[in-house]
Amino acid sequence: MMITIRDLTKRYPPGIPRWKKWFRRYKKDAFMGELAVDRLNMEVKKGQVYGFIGPNGAGKTTTIKMLVGLMPPTSGTALVCGLDVVEEGEMVRGRIGYMPEAPSFYPRVSVLDVLRYYSKLYSIPSRSIDKKILKVLRIVGIAGEKSKLCGKLSFGMKKRLSLAQALLNDPELLILDEPTGGLDPAGKRDFRKLLRKLSDSGITIFMSSHLLEEVQKISTHVGIIHHGRLITSGNLAELQEKMGKEAKVKIVVTVAPSSEIPSSSIKDMKSIIDLRISENKMTIVAENGDISSEVNRLLVENNCPVRSMVIEEPELEDIFFDHTST
Ligand SMILES: Nc1ncnc2c1ncn2[C@@H]1O[C@H](COP(=O)(O)OP(=O)(O)O)[C@@H](O)[C@H]1O
Ligand SMILES: [Mg+2]
Repeated sequence: MMITIRDLTKRYPPGIPRWKKWFRRYKKDAFMGELAVDRLNMEVKKGQVYGFIGPNGAGKTTTIKMLVGLMPPTSGTALVCGLDVVEEGEMVRGRIGYMPEAPSFYPRVSVLDVLRYYSKLYSIPSRSIDKKILKVLRIVGIAGEKSKLCGKLSFGMKKRLSLAQALLNDPELLILDEPTGGLDPAGKRDFRKLLRKLSDSGITIFMSSHLLEEVQKISTHVGIIHHGRLITSGNLAELQEKMGKEAKVKIVVTVAPSSEIPSSSIKDMKSIIDLRISENKMTIVAENGDISSEVNRLLVENNCPVRSMVIEEPELEDIFFDHTST
């Protein structure tokens, strides 16, 4: 197991001004601080590309910071590469590569010098440092930029440099916080290609994103987090099927103008959740299952001529929003 998370919880300190402290006694709940991660349980196995998805503020960055040892958990445990992130944080950091959400480098330092600095932190023998650096720069595709100052790099190149840095110590596991965030569509595609290549070379990848479609294109497994809690997780294909079953279907029927829609008989159908009629158009939301033939039958029986019937298949995207819209 690459990552094992058990009841991981993070509550940020409340940060109340001193003059308000007296108030605490009376309104304790309001000053408990922000519960950013709430009893999270998760597992990532070797070889997976795990997509950790959730809307902004869900708790992804907080979770990741605890995994890489930048922040202690309030309670619960996390093992990374079988090592406890609190007790054995130093060893964990030696075996993983981490790419933060917003990489920042000193603008007046060159790409080479940034990587030399990190190589020393990782205690890479000085003989092999330059060879190593060239190797990771080639992998991420910015070898031609090695003498550039960081301040002159485009955003996309900074992301690549950040990934190069994460690769310096030959990690078994890459932990990436919104790796494709802020990139343009072409940049996103290139980055995905790069991550796929790294995954093929045997590196396990744990990446967060607030964009489901982004993760769908590359992950083998996903976990959805919302309000600090894991809503669902599993193999991407299984999850799509499972969610597809609980998804709702939407049917839009257009009938001939000025014809009478038998709304009451349609409303009586047992799987109907919502029915809306405007002029000669009817929108039906129902539980999943094939109801189109029954709707059609009801319309025909009531002499209501159907002009068109469009069935909108549920997408994982819709279900994601169903689960995370509150
Ligand atoms: N340093 C902090 N102090 C207090 N609250 C924070 C801090 N960082 C994040 N939060 C809060 O914790 C929640 C989760 O944030 P975060 O982990 O950054 O979410 P995500 O990365 O999924 O967008 C948010 O409600 C955010 O406001
Ligand atoms: Mg974040």
